[in-house]
Amino acid sequence: MAAPDLAGKTAIVTGASRGIGLAAAQALADAGATVVVTSRKQEAADAAAAQIGERAVGIAAHAAEEDQARACVEQTVQRFGGIDILVNNAGTNPAFGPLITQDHARFAKVMDVNLWAPLMWTALAVEAGLGANGGGSVINTASIGGLAHEANIGLYNASKAALIYLTGQLALELSPRIRVNAVAPGVVRTKLAEALWREHEELVAGVTALGRIGEPSDIASAITFLASDQSSWMTGEVMVIDGGMHLGDARGYRTGI
Ligand SMILES: NC(=O)c1ccc[n+]([C@@H]2O[C@H](COP(=O)([O-])OP(=O)(O)OC[C@H]3O[C@@H](n4cnc5c(N)ncnc54)[C@H](OP(=O)(O)O)[C@@H]3O)[C@@H](O)[C@H]2O)c1
Repeated sequence: MAAPDLAGKTAIVTGASRGIGLAAAQALADAGATVVVTSRKQEAADAAAAQIGERAVGIAAHAAEEDQARACVEQTVQRFGGIDILVNNAGTNPAFGPLITQDHARFAKVMDVNLWAPLMWTALAVEAGLGANGGGSVINTASIGGLAHEANIGLYNASKAALIYLTGQLALELSPRIRVNAVAPGVVRTKLAEALWREHEELVAGVTALGRIGEPSDIASAITFLASDQSSWMTGEVMVIDGGMHLGDARGYRTGI
Protein backbone atom coordinates (compact mmCIF):
# COMPACT_ATOMS: atom_id res chain seq x y z
CA MET A 1 0.00 0.00 0.00
CA ALA A 2 1.28 3.49 -0.85
CA ALA A 3 1.97 5.98 1.99
CA PRO A 4 -1.06 8.09 3.02
CA ASP A 5 -1.34 11.22 0.88
CA LEU A 6 -2.73 14.24 2.71
CA ALA A 7 -1.54 16.93 0.29
CA GLY A 8 -3.95 19.85 0.27
CA LYS A 9 -5.60 18.84 3.57
CA THR A 10 -5.70 20.94 6.72
CA ALA A 11 -5.57 19.32 10.15
CA ILE A 12 -5.92 20.52 13.74
CA VAL A 13 -4.23 18.43 16.43
CA THR A 14 -5.08 19.40 20.02
CA GLY A 15 -2.44 18.84 22.70
CA ALA A 16 0.40 18.64 20.23
CA SER A 17 3.30 20.26 22.07
CA ARG A 18 4.78 16.85 22.92
CA GLY A 19 4.08 13.12 23.07
CA ILE A 20 1.48 11.47 20.85
CA GLY A 21 0.04 14.79 19.63
CA LEU A 22 3.41 16.10 18.44
CA ALA A 23 4.21 12.81 16.71
CA ALA A 24 0.78 12.77 15.06
CA ALA A 25 1.17 16.35 13.85
CA GLN A 26 4.61 15.49 12.46
CA ALA A 27 3.26 12.42 10.67
CA LEU A 28 0.31 14.35 9.18
CA ALA A 29 2.68 17.08 7.96
CA ASP A 30 5.05 14.46 6.52
CA ALA A 31 2.06 13.06 4.61
CA GLY A 32 1.50 16.51 3.08
CA ALA A 33 -1.10 18.13 5.36
CA THR A 34 -0.97 21.63 6.76
CA VAL A 35 -1.19 21.20 10.52
CA VAL A 36 -2.36 23.50 13.31
CA VAL A 37 -0.88 22.36 16.63
CA THR A 38 -2.36 23.46 19.94
CA SER A 39 -1.03 23.70 23.48
CA ARG A 40 -2.11 25.70 26.50
CA LYS A 41 0.95 27.92 25.94
CA GLN A 42 1.72 29.84 22.75
CA GLU A 43 5.51 29.31 23.16
CA ALA A 44 5.04 25.54 23.41
CA ALA A 45 2.76 25.51 20.36
CA ASP A 46 5.27 27.64 18.42
CA ALA A 47 8.15 25.36 19.43
CA ALA A 48 6.25 22.28 18.27
CA ALA A 49 5.37 23.95 14.96
CA ALA A 50 9.01 24.99 14.44
CA GLN A 51 10.13 21.40 15.07
CA ILE A 52 7.60 20.01 12.57
CA GLY A 53 8.54 22.47 9.83
CA GLU A 54 6.97 24.92 7.42
CA ARG A 55 3.64 23.08 7.10
CA ALA A 56 2.84 23.59 10.82
CA VAL A 57 1.46 26.53 12.77
CA GLY A 58 1.06 26.80 16.55
CA ILE A 59 -2.04 28.26 18.18
CA ALA A 60 -2.52 28.43 21.96
CA ALA A 61 -5.87 27.00 23.07
CA HIS A 62 -6.89 25.30 26.30
CA ALA A 63 -8.75 22.27 25.01
CA ALA A 64 -11.76 22.74 27.29
CA GLU A 65 -12.13 26.53 26.90
CA GLU A 66 -14.78 27.15 24.27
CA ASP A 67 -13.71 30.72 23.37
CA GLN A 68 -10.14 29.58 22.76
CA ALA A 69 -11.25 26.53 20.78
CA ARG A 70 -13.58 28.63 18.63
CA ALA A 71 -10.84 31.20 17.97
CA CYS A 72 -8.45 28.41 16.94
CA VAL A 73 -10.98 26.87 14.55
CA GLU A 74 -11.83 30.29 13.06
CA GLN A 75 -8.17 31.21 12.57
CA THR A 76 -7.55 27.86 10.88
CA VAL A 77 -10.40 28.42 8.42
CA GLN A 78 -9.40 32.03 7.73
CA ARG A 79 -5.79 31.11 7.15
CA PHE A 80 -6.07 27.81 5.29
CA GLY A 81 -9.58 27.92 3.79
CA GLY A 82 -11.14 25.04 5.74
CA ILE A 83 -10.58 22.01 7.97
CA ASP A 84 -10.40 18.41 6.81
CA ILE A 85 -8.96 16.55 9.80
CA LEU A 86 -9.45 17.04 13.54
CA VAL A 87 -7.37 15.05 16.01
CA ASN A 88 -8.85 15.35 19.52
CA ASN A 89 -5.71 14.35 21.37
CA ALA A 90 -5.32 16.64 24.42
CA GLY A 91 -5.80 14.60 27.55
CA THR A 92 -5.16 14.74 31.26
CA ASN A 93 -5.01 12.41 34.24
CA PRO A 94 -4.82 14.35 37.52
CA ALA A 95 -6.88 11.81 39.50
CA PHE A 96 -4.99 8.80 40.84
CA GLY A 97 -6.67 6.45 43.31
CA PRO A 98 -9.92 4.55 43.78
CA LEU A 99 -12.97 6.02 42.10
CA ILE A 100 -14.78 6.46 45.40
CA THR A 101 -12.05 8.79 46.72
CA GLN A 102 -12.37 11.29 43.87
CA ASP A 103 -13.87 14.74 44.30
CA HIS A 104 -15.94 16.85 41.96
CA ALA A 105 -13.06 19.15 41.00
CA ARG A 106 -10.95 16.25 39.69
CA PHE A 107 -13.98 14.59 38.10
CA ALA A 108 -14.89 17.81 36.31
CA LYS A 109 -11.33 18.43 35.08
CA VAL A 110 -10.89 14.92 33.67
CA MET A 111 -14.29 14.93 32.00
CA ASP A 112 -13.89 18.48 30.67
CA VAL A 113 -10.54 17.85 28.96
CA ASN A 114 -10.92 14.18 27.97
CA LEU A 115 -14.60 14.09 27.01
CA TRP A 116 -16.26 17.48 26.67
CA ALA A 117 -13.34 18.96 24.70
CA PRO A 118 -13.44 16.34 21.90
CA LEU A 119 -17.20 16.85 21.55
CA MET A 120 -16.92 20.63 21.60
CA TRP A 121 -14.02 20.79 19.09
CA THR A 122 -15.88 18.40 16.80
CA ALA A 123 -19.02 20.54 16.96
CA LEU A 124 -17.04 23.72 16.29
CA ALA A 125 -15.16 22.13 13.40
CA VAL A 126 -18.38 20.79 11.86
CA GLU A 127 -19.98 24.22 12.20
CA ALA A 128 -16.92 25.65 10.42
CA GLY A 129 -17.37 23.19 7.53
CA LEU A 130 -15.16 20.23 8.48
CA GLY A 131 -14.95 17.92 5.49
CA ALA A 132 -17.01 20.21 3.25
CA ASN A 133 -14.73 19.24 0.36
CA GLY A 134 -14.99 15.51 1.10
CA GLY A 135 -12.74 13.31 3.18
CA GLY A 136 -13.59 14.83 6.58
CA SER A 137 -12.07 12.80 9.41
CA VAL A 138 -12.14 13.13 13.18
CA ILE A 139 -9.79 11.00 15.29
CA ASN A 140 -10.16 10.81 19.08
CA THR A 141 -7.28 9.65 21.25
CA ALA A 142 -8.91 7.21 23.66
CA SER A 143 -7.02 4.47 25.57
CA ILE A 144 -7.08 0.73 26.13
CA GLY A 145 -8.06 1.81 29.65
CA GLY A 146 -11.43 2.72 28.18
CA LEU A 147 -11.95 -0.93 27.26
CA ALA A 148 -11.01 -2.53 30.60
CA HIS A 149 -10.80 -1.98 34.34
CA GLU A 150 -7.54 -1.01 36.08
CA ALA A 151 -6.72 -0.11 39.67
CA ASN A 152 -6.39 3.58 40.57
CA ILE A 153 -7.09 5.14 37.17
CA GLY A 154 -10.81 4.46 37.08
CA LEU A 155 -11.79 8.09 36.58
CA TYR A 156 -9.44 8.56 33.63
CA ASN A 157 -10.56 5.24 32.16
CA ALA A 158 -14.22 6.17 32.59
CA SER A 159 -13.57 9.32 30.54
CA LYS A 160 -11.93 7.24 27.80
CA ALA A 161 -14.74 4.64 27.83
CA ALA A 162 -17.20 7.49 27.36
CA LEU A 163 -15.01 8.92 24.58
CA ILE A 164 -15.22 5.56 22.79
CA TYR A 165 -19.02 5.66 23.10
CA LEU A 166 -19.05 9.25 21.84
CA THR A 167 -16.90 8.23 18.86
CA GLY A 168 -19.54 5.75 17.68
CA GLN A 169 -22.39 8.17 18.33
CA LEU A 170 -20.72 10.97 16.37
CA ALA A 171 -19.80 8.55 13.59
CA LEU A 172 -23.53 7.94 13.12
CA GLU A 173 -24.61 11.55 13.58
CA LEU A 174 -22.03 12.93 11.12
CA SER A 175 -22.37 10.16 8.53
CA PRO A 176 -21.90 9.92 5.65
CA ARG A 177 -19.89 13.15 5.22
CA ILE A 178 -17.48 12.86 8.12
CA ARG A 179 -15.79 9.75 9.52
CA VAL A 180 -15.15 9.57 13.26
CA ASN A 181 -12.75 6.99 14.69
CA ALA A 182 -10.62 6.52 17.79
CA VAL A 183 -7.21 5.16 18.62
CA ALA A 184 -6.78 3.27 21.89
CA PRO A 185 -3.09 3.27 22.81
CA GLY A 186 -1.51 1.05 25.43
CA VAL A 187 1.41 2.34 27.54
CA VAL A 188 3.34 4.86 25.42
CA ARG A 189 6.59 6.62 26.32
CA THR A 190 5.22 10.08 27.16
CA LYS A 191 5.13 12.45 30.11
CA LEU A 192 1.45 11.77 30.86
CA ALA A 193 2.06 8.03 31.26
CA GLU A 194 5.43 8.28 33.07
CA ALA A 195 4.04 6.66 36.25
CA LEU A 196 3.14 3.58 34.20
CA TRP A 197 6.59 2.94 32.71
CA ARG A 198 9.44 5.11 34.08
CA GLU A 199 10.35 2.91 37.06
CA HIS A 200 9.48 -0.44 35.53
CA GLU A 201 9.79 -0.32 31.77
CA GLU A 202 11.44 -3.73 31.60
CA LEU A 203 8.54 -5.37 33.45
CA VAL A 204 5.88 -3.70 31.29
CA ALA A 205 7.80 -4.62 28.13
CA GLY A 206 8.20 -8.20 29.36
CA VAL A 207 4.48 -8.81 29.88
CA THR A 208 3.60 -7.21 26.52
CA ALA A 209 3.30 -9.59 23.57
CA LEU A 210 5.51 -7.46 21.32
CA GLY A 211 8.15 -7.01 24.04
CA ARG A 212 8.31 -3.23 24.37
CA ILE A 213 6.30 -0.19 25.42
CA GLY A 214 4.89 2.07 22.71
CA GLU A 215 6.54 5.08 21.12
CA PRO A 216 4.49 8.15 20.10
CA SER A 217 5.24 7.34 16.44
CA ASP A 218 3.43 3.97 16.82
CA ILE A 219 0.21 5.87 17.49
CA ALA A 220 0.95 8.65 15.00
CA SER A 221 1.02 6.24 12.06
CA ALA A 222 -2.42 4.87 13.00
CA ILE A 223 -3.79 8.41 13.32
CA THR A 224 -2.43 9.28 9.87
CA PHE A 225 -4.03 6.15 8.43
CA LEU A 226 -7.39 7.09 9.98
CA ALA A 227 -7.02 10.65 8.66
CA SER A 228 -6.41 9.48 5.11
CA ASP A 229 -8.57 7.95 2.39
CA GLN A 230 -6.83 4.62 3.07
CA SER A 231 -9.42 4.18 5.84
CA SER A 232 -12.30 5.59 3.76
CA TRP A 233 -14.68 2.74 4.70
CA MET A 234 -13.99 2.91 8.44
CA THR A 235 -16.08 4.91 10.87
CA GLY A 236 -17.00 4.51 14.53
CA GLU A 237 -14.02 2.17 14.93
CA VAL A 238 -11.60 1.95 17.85
CA MET A 239 -8.10 0.96 16.78
CA VAL A 240 -6.21 -0.68 19.63
CA ILE A 241 -2.47 -0.02 19.30
CA ASP A 242 -0.79 -1.55 22.31
CA GLY A 243 1.74 -4.20 21.27
CA GLY A 244 -0.77 -6.82 22.42
CA MET A 245 -1.07 -5.53 26.03
CA HIS A 246 -4.84 -6.00 26.10
CA LEU A 247 -4.36 -9.72 25.47
CA GLY A 248 -2.89 -10.15 28.94
CA ASP A 249 0.46 -11.18 30.42
CA ALA A 250 2.38 -12.76 27.52
CA ARG A 251 5.00 -14.47 29.70
CA GLY A 252 2.99 -17.60 30.37
CA TYR A 253 2.19 -18.06 26.71
CA ARG A 254 5.53 -17.64 24.99
CA THR A 255 6.75 -20.80 23.31
CA GLY A 256 10.30 -19.63 22.74
CA ILE A 257 10.09 -19.53 18.97
N1 LIG B 1 0.95 7.85 26.87
C1 LIG B 1 0.12 6.84 27.02
O1 LIG B 1 0.49 5.75 27.49
C2 LIG B 1 -1.32 7.00 26.60
C3 LIG B 1 -2.10 5.85 26.54
C4 LIG B 1 -3.43 5.96 26.16
C5 LIG B 1 -3.93 7.20 25.82
N2 LIG B 1 -3.15 8.32 25.89
C6 LIG B 1 -3.75 9.61 25.50
O2 LIG B 1 -2.93 10.23 24.55
C7 LIG B 1 -3.19 11.62 24.55
C8 LIG B 1 -1.88 12.37 24.52
O3 LIG B 1 -1.19 12.13 25.73
P1 LIG B 1 0.37 11.87 25.78
O4 LIG B 1 0.55 10.55 26.41
O5 LIG B 1 1.01 12.17 24.48
O6 LIG B 1 0.77 12.95 26.90
P2 LIG B 1 1.83 14.13 26.97
O7 LIG B 1 3.09 13.78 26.29
O8 LIG B 1 1.88 14.52 28.40
O9 LIG B 1 1.11 15.26 26.10
C9 LIG B 1 -0.11 15.81 26.48
C10 LIG B 1 -0.42 16.94 25.53
O10 LIG B 1 -1.71 17.43 25.84
C11 LIG B 1 -1.61 18.83 26.04
N3 LIG B 1 -2.62 19.21 26.99
C12 LIG B 1 -2.83 18.72 28.23
N4 LIG B 1 -3.90 19.34 28.78
C13 LIG B 1 -4.34 20.21 27.84
C14 LIG B 1 -5.39 21.12 27.80
N5 LIG B 1 -6.23 21.28 28.82
N6 LIG B 1 -5.56 21.86 26.67
C15 LIG B 1 -4.72 21.72 25.62
N7 LIG B 1 -3.70 20.86 25.60
C16 LIG B 1 -3.53 20.14 26.71
C17 LIG B 1 -0.20 19.09 26.48
O11 LIG B 1 0.15 20.40 26.08
P3 LIG B 1 0.58 21.62 27.06
O12 LIG B 1 1.04 21.00 28.37
O13 LIG B 1 1.70 22.25 26.29
O14 LIG B 1 -0.63 22.46 27.18
C18 LIG B 1 0.55 18.08 25.64
O15 LIG B 1 0.80 18.58 24.35
C19 LIG B 1 -4.07 11.88 25.77
O16 LIG B 1 -5.42 12.00 25.38
C20 LIG B 1 -3.88 10.64 26.61
O17 LIG B 1 -4.97 10.40 27.45
C21 LIG B 1 -1.86 8.24 26.27
